[in-house]
Amino acid sequence: MIEHLPRFIADYGKKLEDVGIERGKGEIEIILCYLLDCDRLDLYLHGEQRFNEEHFRQFSDILSKRLTRYPLQYILKESWFYGRRFKVSPSVMVPTPETELLCETAIKFINSKKLKKPKIVDLGVGSGVIAITMAKELDDCSILGLDISVDALKVAHNNAINFIATDKIEFLESDYFQNVPADSKFDLILANPPYISEEEYKLLPPEVLADPKISLTSGDEGLDAIKKILRDGPDYLAHDGRIMFEIGYNQADQVTELTSKDDRFKSIVILKDLNDIDRVVILSCNK
Ligand SMILES: C[S@@+](CC[C@H](N)C(=O)[O-])C[C@H]1O[C@@H](n2cnc3c(N)ncnc32)[C@H](O)[C@@H]1O
Repeated sequence: MIEHLPRFIADYGKKLEDVGIERGKGEIEIILCYLLDCDRLDLYLHGEQRFNEEHFRQFSDILSKRLTRYPLQYILKESWFYGRRFKVSPSVMVPTPETELLCETAIKFINSKKLKKPKIVDLGVGSGVIAITMAKELDDCSILGLDISVDALKVAHNNAINFIATDKIEFLESDYFQNVPADSKFDLILANPPYISEEEYKLLPPEVLADPKISLTSGDEGLDAIKKILRDGPDYLAHDGRIMFEIGYNQADQVTELTSKDDRFKSIVILKDLNDIDRVVILSCNK
């Protein structure tokens, strides 16, 4: 039993904050909800009574791991994205909330087109959050989720099984478009590519450094994956389709310049995230 939940959360939250974790109290709430298998409201209504000695033992174990700055999502083996709980492991990047903007934009685009069974590709599927969110949020669609990492594909496939989404998603081991049949056409090409430069990589917090490096960096400037998507994407785009991908906070100008030199691109729009940072590129092509 916890005597006074707000004090428990504040005290242990402070321990996390003391080692440099920003939202220590929020993380303690997440751990308690995980252990009690409840939501935040239930935690505050019934948490004090339900928390027992075994919960406290598990809590202490999780806390001591988290105090080393190992990501909470890898400790709990789960991460929330777009209102769903996904399984994660250290072979996939922990999904970030910024990527929800990419999904939201993609869903709006597909719904506005009223296409019959739109075809979508998710380049670098990772844990599967983008592909599975699209599968669950769209009525009818066919999705190809590819990744160069076989371990990531296993995690994504398991998540797709858990969310009963395997009928809509096919998984493929591929270096971007390399193993995608040349005559494939997609209404939507989606990607949250690795986009961190080698210079920035050195400055990342320990939690992000625990992600597989292949999911973070892409060449010295962090632009190699984006350049590949820009090089090959138009060939795989259906008439009036869109290429949408996430970018780093300082890449909008570079991406605009790259697309302006290539007359296959018709328009570029860059959306800002909730922190007012350029985040999602939307491209249409002359076809
Ligand atoms: C930033 S993570 C995104 C993961 C997931 N889509 C998400 O949003 O959480 C980038 C993903 O691209 C994959 N990747 C890296 N290089 C790749 C390549 N050459 N071809 C295909 N996938 C690649 C990584 O394995 C990783 O899963």
